[in-house]
Amino acid sequence: MIRKCPYAAESSPQDDPCADYLRLSEGPAVLREDVLDVWVVTGFNEVTALLRNPAMSSAWPAHANTTLHDGSISLEGPTRTDDTVRRWFMFNDGDQHMKLRRLVAPLFSAQQLAAFQPHIEDLVTRLLDGKHDRLDIVKDVSVPLSSGVICRLLGMPGEVARSLAEWGQDIAALLYADYLPEVVERGHRALRGLEGVVREALARPELPDDSGLGLLRRARLAGEIDERDILSVASLLVYAGFETTSVFIGKAVRSALHADLWSQLGGPGNASMVEELLRFDTSVRQVARVAMSDVVIGGHRIAEGELVLLMLGAANRDGEVFDEPDHLLEERRIRRHLAFGQGPHYCLGAGLARLEVQIVLRQLVAKWDAVELVTAPVVKRHFGVPVLESLEIRPVRTR
Ligand code: HEM
Repeated sequence: MIRKCPYAAESSPQDDPCADYLRLSEGPAVLREDVLDVWVVTGFNEVTALLRNPAMSSAWPAHANTTLHDGSISLEGPTRTDDTVRRWFMFNDGDQHMKLRRLVAPLFSAQQLAAFQPHIEDLVTRLLDGKHDRLDIVKDVSVPLSSGVICRLLGMPGEVARSLAEWGQDIAALLYADYLPEVVERGHRALRGLEGVVREALARPELPDDSGLGLLRRARLAGEIDERDILSVASLLVYAGFETTSVFIGKAVRSALHADLWSQLGGPGNASMVEELLRFDTSVRQVARVAMSDVVIGGHRIAEGELVLLMLGAANRDGEVFDEPDHLLEERRIRRHLAFGQGPHYCLGAGLARLEVQIVLRQLVAKWDAVELVTAPVVKRHFGVPVLESLEIRPVRTR
């Protein structure tokens, strides 16, 4: 049966947020893609098992032996382009991964998140303040919010947030298209710019000890890491924490409006709606792994050295696991989804991301209890992936 997006009437075929999921979910759970020379895995249970399998390495940029790309995803990886990115603990396994992950994990403890909450509330209040007739969810809210949060998390002064947003996008592009010289040049410029502000922040006496850079400075003084590790972890947090969250906030508002669930974003259902929105259309649609030994999954043998794309977004639409997978359901009380991954690389910032999204949606609904789109969402294809560039909303007066 051909699945149809229930909200497609509102989306042009070019930017239909569901199209990729539906196309993938119609196929088998595990698929060999011969043109690209990769395995594509879309089944929820299969993706979960592979994410937990220690034979599947996250160091795919270092190990994958393919150099193909189809214009929408580079399978070359950032190996050739920058040592800083290659050192990201997200792209390492075992001790090297855990050593750096453990250093910044205290930033995301329940206690730290509770202390962070008032700052996020305040930042969102300030962003929404003075917007009476309309606002752009992307430009006015999600971009300044998620870059402002990363700035504070690292311990940098607030005025750096705007640059972090730009650099975050340019560093992310390195992962999609490091075969394009202009992308490599912009990505490297961003990393050098970030290096400059990291050095300045490390030299500031008022750098908080419990901030990201504060923790890294202490580890360097203790001889546990070197300067290159500091830049690597800082740039990973900018990459992993900025665009993921800002893109997701835009998607969440858009999906809720399509499904006519605006008011459910506030109130007591706020947290469970955020989980359903993460399942429905997440911002990290896929992650890659390379097999370090032969692995059997779903009746297929993945050979040592082969690259595997684990399609988190499509797996979250698996009809074997979720009833009516293509519907955004207010009453769905999901216990698990793969938007934040699974296993040893499970998103370190999941708690922070949830907090940011819950707060911003709650405050938006408290401000305007009914809204409508001012114009159609502006979507651009960014290396093949539809990215929301602008989403203007305005209040509908009901009170
Ligand atoms: C890893 C999703 C927000 C920091 C991941 C992974 C996913 C993900 C799927 C797993 C990558 C893999 O297995 O290869 C998301 C989504 C977010 C979000 C959908 C927002 C809606 C954040 C935030 C931060 C963050 C706000 C921190 C400020 C990280 C880090 C990793 C990671 C450091 C690497 C973990 C490791 O390799 O051990 N994220 N993320 N993320 N995320 Fe997030």
